[in-house]
Amino acid sequence: MKLNNKLTKLIKYYSLINHNYIFKNAPINRYKNKDKNGLSSDKSLNILRKEISLIKNCELKKNANNLVFADGNPGAKVMIIGEGPGANEDKVGKPFVGRAGQLLDKMLNSINLDRTNVYITNVVNYRPPENRKPTEAEIERYLPFLIKHILIIKPKIIMLLGSTALSALIGENEVISKARGKWHDKVFENTRISIMPSFHPAFLMRQPEQKKLAWIDLKMIRDKIKKLGIKIEKS
Ligand code: URA
Repeated sequence: MKLNNKLTKLIKYYSLINHNYIFKNAPINRYKNKDKNGLSSDKSLNILRKEISLIKNCELKKNANNLVFADGNPGAKVMIIGEGPGANEDKVGKPFVGRAGQLLDKMLNSINLDRTNVYITNVVNYRPPENRKPTEAEIERYLPFLIKHILIIKPKIIMLLGSTALSALIGENEVISKARGKWHDKVFENTRISIMPSFHPAFLMRQPEQKKLAWIDLKMIRDKIKKLGIKIEKS
């Protein structure tokens, strides 16, 4: 084979593989996100969790058993945001582990996603007593934590589950039935994030006939993942 041919093939080959494998001895960091202070996402997430745990005079925290921070993969490009923990989540300390969580898992599976390739959190991190909705004041109080959470994870796509997540991130006057099924692009610290509001799985359990609309939203997310060239790692 002529040298030029060989060289072209080699260049093609090297451009297809990750240079870190060849040139670096250090372990590859799968969660490459660094925040503007140069902290890794793991460190920043620990700091954020600590900050939330130190919240004072909070009715939600007073009545809850556990801080419910997040679940999933901090390196994920798809982030799911629910409303707030329920009784099961409060017991276990993880979001979406009850019946609504089982439905959420099925919804994610239907577009080839699961908890190893998405990141899941809520608008409020402590269970509202009697599973009531968080008040506007509570949403406002937890919003800076949620924004920090988003800035650490740096997702390309966010799925908002239900009206609380919708009003926290898109606007109080929005209605989920009108806002769902459309992309709402938002820029967070110079990064554009495509946001898809959809129905909360707990609502879908009460009104299963709405599942066909949720399926449309999920397919839009699946298409956006493809369009943005997001690689979904399967466990
Ligand atoms: N509903 C939510 O919004 N979040 C959870 O974590 C569980 C149920």
